[in-house]
Amino acid sequence: MHFDKVIKNGRLVTGERIFSGDIGIADGKIAVIEDNLPAEDTKIIDAKGLLVLPGIIDVHVHLQLPFCGTVSVDDFFTGTRAAACGGVTTVIDFAIQNKSGTLYEAVENRRSEADGKVCVDYSLHAVPTDWRDDIRHEMKEIVDYGISTFKMFMVYRSEGLISEDDALFEALEESAKLGVMIGVHAESVTILEFLTDRYHTDEMMRKYGAYCHALSRPWYVEAEAVSRAINWAEATGGNLYIVHMSDGRSAEILNSAKDRQVNVFAETCPHYLLLDDEFFKLKDGHLYGTCPQLKKPEDQRRLWQALAGGELSVISTDTCTFNTEQKAMWNGDFTKIPFGMPGVETLLPLIYLHGVEAGKISLQRMVQLLSTNPAKLMGMYPQKGSLMLGSDADITIIDPESRTTLSYKNLQTNSDWSPYEGFEAMGMPVYTLLRGEIIAENGEFKGKAGSGSFIKRSAPDFNI
Ligand code: URP
Ligand code: ZN
Ligand code: ZN
Repeated sequence: MHFDKVIKNGRLVTGERIFSGDIGIADGKIAVIEDNLPAEDTKIIDAKGLLVLPGIIDVHVHLQLPFCGTVSVDDFFTGTRAAACGGVTTVIDFAIQNKSGTLYEAVENRRSEADGKVCVDYSLHAVPTDWRDDIRHEMKEIVDYGISTFKMFMVYRSEGLISEDDALFEALEESAKLGVMIGVHAESVTILEFLTDRYHTDEMMRKYGAYCHALSRPWYVEAEAVSRAINWAEATGGNLYIVHMSDGRSAEILNSAKDRQVNVFAETCPHYLLLDDEFFKLKDGHLYGTCPQLKKPEDQRRLWQALAGGELSVISTDTCTFNTEQKAMWNGDFTKIPFGMPGVETLLPLIYLHGVEAGKISLQRMVQLLSTNPAKLMGMYPQKGSLMLGSDADITIIDPESRTTLSYKNLQTNSDWSPYEGFEAMGMPVYTLLRGEIIAENGEFKGKAGSGSFIKRSAPDFNI
């Protein structure tokens, strides 16, 4: 059999097992996995001493998102170029419904921005913001189109993104009928707005600066909304996915919901695992403004436990890059910080060092959290998230011994700062392959705009 490429001598790590073998790639797919695969007239990638993983999947990015009075600066090209160099082969962004528009229009608009520009494969979550009967019916058409996840914001009233509880309740009912999943950004809007007003005074902002952002978003702002969303999922039998979980109490609530067999899953992000709210006290503390807020070291500990223990199923990044000039729009007012940070490129090496190498999660668990579970929950498995015969040859090869000190200067993001500046990282990707093509090598981008495609997704596989 002829292969387009053979990856030789690597140690293969999947969500199920770790083993040695050579991978033969043909027509963008994994064709054979065998020891000592003959490889005449074929490009050989020597993976001796390296770990061969299924491509990393980041299910939560916001590229060129109009938000907080500006537009996030990693667009579909630079954001996915950064993804490729970070070993990420699939991202999921969001198609946000315009008021009085439809979900289909939102998806087509977003696709017209992304197609031809993306360097890795991608999909979209459909985001209803104007809940109506026709939108409820439209969900089925969107599923047939290949989008099996919807996302609703329980906050962002003034931005016009919020879904009220009745909308969330009905969407969850529909999710049970269609076998699809509703993601939620869970924060309690009433208490959040109340606390924001409390700290939004000249006196408070002079005294606390960017730390007002943390003071106005304590743990219970998230935990209350998590609890409420879980109640609606339990009442309706719906399928719920909590995005960017940031606090330990929410992890407890999630745990007890799982004990009651509620079909709820959740992700957290590297910034909730590695940064805490003391960062707001730094001179440039406003740069770290994101929602939900960075919490406390005890929250970080509980989130790591939940990743290891199985309550949390996915690590995503919520990449939403604003540069220092955009962040400066805050001008001393914490309510004007553009919310979000870069992250897709540093996901894997940060989690490898601070999770696996630090002994908080196993190597195999990391692959589950960064690839297999995202693929299953988002309806892409085993096309993605696996090293099975017939799977897309999306493969990330890392050097488990390589250490690096992160700096935005060496990254592909369009950002002029990094929340992880000066952080140690480990296991930077040596090669990233997308459907068999090398799209990044040792931090250098080798793909092109349009190397990636829109991926049609099926119903989520909840068996993780
Ligand atoms: O602050 C954040 N996370 N910005 C992006 C929008 C969101 O809520 O995910
Ligand atoms: Zn959010
Ligand atoms: Zn987000």
